[in-house]
Amino acid sequence: MTTATATAIAEYLRQHETKSLLRFITCGSVDDGKSTLIGRLLHDTRLLFDDQLAALQSDSRRHGTQGDAVDYALLVDGLAAEREQGITIDVAYRFFSTDKRKFIVADCPGHEQYTRNMATGASTAEVAVVLVDARKGLLTQTRRHSYIVSLLGIRHVVLAVNKMDLVGYDQGVFDGIVEGYRTLAAQLGIEQVQAIPLSALNGDNLLLRSDATPWYDGPSLLAHLETVEASRDNRDIGFRLPVQWVNRPHQDFRGFAGTVVAGSIEPGEEVVVLPSGRRSKVARIVTDAGDLTAANAGQAVTLTLADELDVSRGDVIATAARPPQVADQFAAHLLWMGEHALLPGRPYWLKLGARTVSATVTEIKHKVDVNTQAHLAAKHLELNEVGYCNLGLDQPIAFEAYADNRELGGFILIDRQSNATVAAGTLDFALRRAGNIHWQHVDVDKAARARSKHQAPRCVWFTGLSGAGKSAIANLVDKRLHALGHHAFVLDGDNVRHGLNKDLGFTDEDRVENIRRVAEVARLMTEAGLIVLVSFISPFRAERRMARELFGQGEFIEVFVDTPLEVAEQRDVKGLYAKARAGQIPNFTGIDSPYEKPESAELVLDTVNTSAEALAERVVALVLGDGPAA
Ligand code: ADX
Repeated sequence: MTTATATAIAEYLRQHETKSLLRFITCGSVDDGKSTLIGRLLHDTRLLFDDQLAALQSDSRRHGTQGDAVDYALLVDGLAAEREQGITIDVAYRFFSTDKRKFIVADCPGHEQYTRNMATGASTAEVAVVLVDARKGLLTQTRRHSYIVSLLGIRHVVLAVNKMDLVGYDQGVFDGIVEGYRTLAAQLGIEQVQAIPLSALNGDNLLLRSDATPWYDGPSLLAHLETVEASRDNRDIGFRLPVQWVNRPHQDFRGFAGTVVAGSIEPGEEVVVLPSGRRSKVARIVTDAGDLTAANAGQAVTLTLADELDVSRGDVIATAARPPQVADQFAAHLLWMGEHALLPGRPYWLKLGARTVSATVTEIKHKVDVNTQAHLAAKHLELNEVGYCNLGLDQPIAFEAYADNRELGGFILIDRQSNATVAAGTLDFALRRAGNIHWQHVDVDKAARARSKHQAPRCVWFTGLSGAGKSAIANLVDKRLHALGHHAFVLDGDNVRHGLNKDLGFTDEDRVENIRRVAEVARLMTEAGLIVLVSFISPFRAERRMARELFGQGEFIEVFVDTPLEVAEQRDVKGLYAKARAGQIPNFTGIDSPYEKPESAELVLDTVNTSAEALAERVVALVLGDGPAA
């Protein structure tokens, strides 16, 4: 590289540094012409490298839909597989700039299934360009995408009415679409809408105003993007720093590192650490480039405090004068993106700021029909569905409403088995109920009760298919323990479903609740010093794990009664398999409802080759063997 070139590049970068940055997303239906629009913006702002252009020209001849002309869509539809399908399936980030501004554009897919990518793109964008095909008008996708745009707090939409050339640049068509969209925007609380008639293919109103639409007196798309004031600055809520990690290189230094997500702070100012609520003053603001006299939103810094406080990763350091709320119950919007449905009562990881906690949806208030904004009753949420839910966390966190701060109000849910992100959510407000209920202390504790019964409390959890032999073995264990003078009790699925769980059926969500309740009852029984024998199919790993986590180390014994389906079905003690096969019992475990085998049960019982009596003895030995013989 010549020195002249290097200087030119340096100069170019310097110029770019001082320009403001606008992040926007494009969304719309398949075939609305998004890719062509972005390709054209990139091309016409002349930031394409020459070699990319050469590749494009040869590609256009091979795959293009525009004859010998350059197919701008190919610039954006990066992946070969996507080209073959003719749809864009992932978020593609593109960069371009003009002398006024720099731009990052997230190209969001239009295909129905890929709402999650759209949410990803929208979460950082300030403006959404919603494309509509002038011939088709507003579609389901337009409504769905606009809903997500509003949910994720984008307040500024550009309604790009594309393919105007195909409707003869007719003002009536444009006005009709704009009117419909304004109604939708008002419903969604989208404050600003700029509608622009476009032909991305011909370049009409893209960079410059077009002669083809003399009736339009607004800006071109680029002129609008260059000038629109659409910053998504968080509201002024005071200083907030979620602690990413605790930096302790040696005895004398203890710093708390993270990015300031709101407000600013100076050394000497009083701060509070949440959720603990302990207070101190900022001693220093440390960075790689030396100490600062102030830390502002967006900066990555390390704070040291005047006092030795116990601060850990995930805590929030906030201005003491205006601290955020701390809560463990919330109302929140959820956009479900998991392959398997959201089930209320099932624990997921919730990640917010730098904090990860266990969370369950305690109630789905309603789901939203994104076409009509209607609220519908729902027992679970499926892929791409949006719901308004109550959430319960296993510990309190510091938070802000999403409307006030995206970093401390936006969260994701993660599946605990697969580690997949299954939802994006926005916190609305805290529910105060649970905070007012305290755990009542009792003086005669579990240990005292266990001592008087001369036993170590246990929860023995039998899981397996219907007809596997769970209840038979549990019954034998119970008899044996009783004979030995122990205090045990059997909780059997069939029996508990006659009373406490009479209201529950066999859908996935009802089974989750079934297990949650019986696990809680079993825990209370161990508090009473009992050995509890739980005999439930409990088909899902997630709920067995939830049950296990209610108990102390070594207290929970998972026993997998491993009878193959063929054998259970052949025995068919209750005649239920025959009925299920005849289609008379829907959602029957093993037939049309899944059973997830345990991966690390304390005991696996083979009922095919061993007698129930012998298996029961093994359980008894394990139950009595390793506990303190109180
Ligand atoms: S669980 O899946 O929610 O743990 P639970 O152990 O309470 O099930 O109840 C299972 C018992 O209910 C079975 O042994 C059987 O007698 C009866 N039953 C009725 N319908 C079903 C069904 N669809 N699937 C499984 N068991 C059923």
